[in-house]
Amino acid sequence: MSYLTLNVVDLTQEAPDAVTIHLESPDRQPIASQPGQFLTLILPCGPGGKKERRAYSLSSTPSEAPRLAVTVKRVAGGLVSNYLLDTVRVGQQVEAMAPLGNFTLKPDSSAARSLVLIGAGSGITPLMSMLKAVLREEPRSQVLLVYGNRTEDSVIFRQQLAQLEAQSGGRLQVEHVYSQPHTPASGKPHQYTGRLNRTMLLRILEQRHASLPAQAEYYMCGPEGMMNEARAALDLLGVPAAQIHRESFVAAADSAETAAAQPSGHGDVSTADDDDASATRQVTVQYEGSEYQFDVAPDQTILEAALDLDIDLPYSCQAGLCTACRGKCLSGKVHLDEREGLSDSEMAKGYILVCVAHPLTKDVVIEID
Ligand SMILES: Cc1cc2nc3c(=O)[nH]c(=O)nc-3n(C[C@H](O)[C@H](O)[C@H](O)COP(=O)(O)OP(=O)(O)OC[C@H]3O[C@@H](n4cnc5c(N)ncnc54)[C@H](O)[C@@H]3O)c2cc1C
Ligand code: FES
Repeated sequence: MSYLTLNVVDLTQEAPDAVTIHLESPDRQPIASQPGQFLTLILPCGPGGKKERRAYSLSSTPSEAPRLAVTVKRVAGGLVSNYLLDTVRVGQQVEAMAPLGNFTLKPDSSAARSLVLIGAGSGITPLMSMLKAVLREEPRSQVLLVYGNRTEDSVIFRQQLAQLEAQSGGRLQVEHVYSQPHTPASGKPHQYTGRLNRTMLLRILEQRHASLPAQAEYYMCGPEGMMNEARAALDLLGVPAAQIHRESFVAAADSAETAAAQPSGHGDVSTADDDDASATRQVTVQYEGSEYQFDVAPDQTILEAALDLDIDLPYSCQAGLCTACRGKCLSGKVHLDEREGLSDSEMAKGYILVCVAHPLTKDVVIEID
């Protein structure tokens, strides 16, 4: 895993509670990234200056290199978002992990595709990177962005989106949905008013964009409730699951139950203490040419046990969302508290997320690439 030191070279206030932080490496060398990936910022804002990590999706595209940008929205009571919004200054240096993530879109200049991006609040950030990349790199592709916010003032990238839409020659359509729009003093009320839920999305997709091709690809990012509603709308429209991609910033409340029902062990070794989650077990982790063996207590994740021993494994969100800690279970069985970041096919291949994994057998071997 490569770590970066980045200079803050500019700041843009996008909304009253959201700021874009523009970053460059000191030697101004480009840093490889793909639209939709995230940067992990490592900041000394924990108790006693402890370093905290948080993932922030890149709102920039590779064509903006050597600049990278992340856009941070304030979370009430949140440690890192408030620290960043209140203290970040141009000229400051921040520590980060190199861009990561599988919620990506690979621009292809020969493509002529339809993309539907569905976002709410800060969930716009990876979608912004994707739409800018497609508008720039794919002259024959179309993008529809459906973007939910409380009010007009809370829209992140409001002006930039209006400008991109105006300059796109009809290739970008932006549909804003406001749950509490300002009442217009005169003139027509805003067309899409209410929550960005299943009914609203169906209304937008069916009435205004009935011409979407069956192969359209859907990318969504926002609060769990919104993404579940959007998924339900797309299911009703018969969109195949393979054409739907999603990124979560926050773990779902019911995720533990979901993952508990799907043990992800890939190895086939079965022992007498299988599935007993109340024992301390030794695990083996292979990473960057080294092999580590250590005990994991019942109340610990494999990542927590490794970090307690100063074993420097890669991680970011520590919530099973971002896949920075993804590994493959070569033998034994593990339980995952959360599996949002893994697709069904990754689960079937034995991939696990070390930050939410607990060993269920005494022969667990994990390879982290
Ligand atoms: C892959 C990925 C990409 C992300 N990209 C972005 C991004 O582009 N912009 C951005 O602003 N954030 C993004 N996040 C969220 C970000 O990593 C932090 O979780 C967020 O800034 C809150 O951190 P905090 O330290 O302020 O709050 P914490 O101190 O960690 O949490 C405080 C409380 O707020 C809740 N909470 C945490 N995050 C959110 C949230 N997003 N909305 C509502 N409640 C929340 C927590 O559950 C907790 O109860 C991303 C997360 C992931 C996993
Ligand atoms: S650190 Fe994000 S999924 Fe494990």
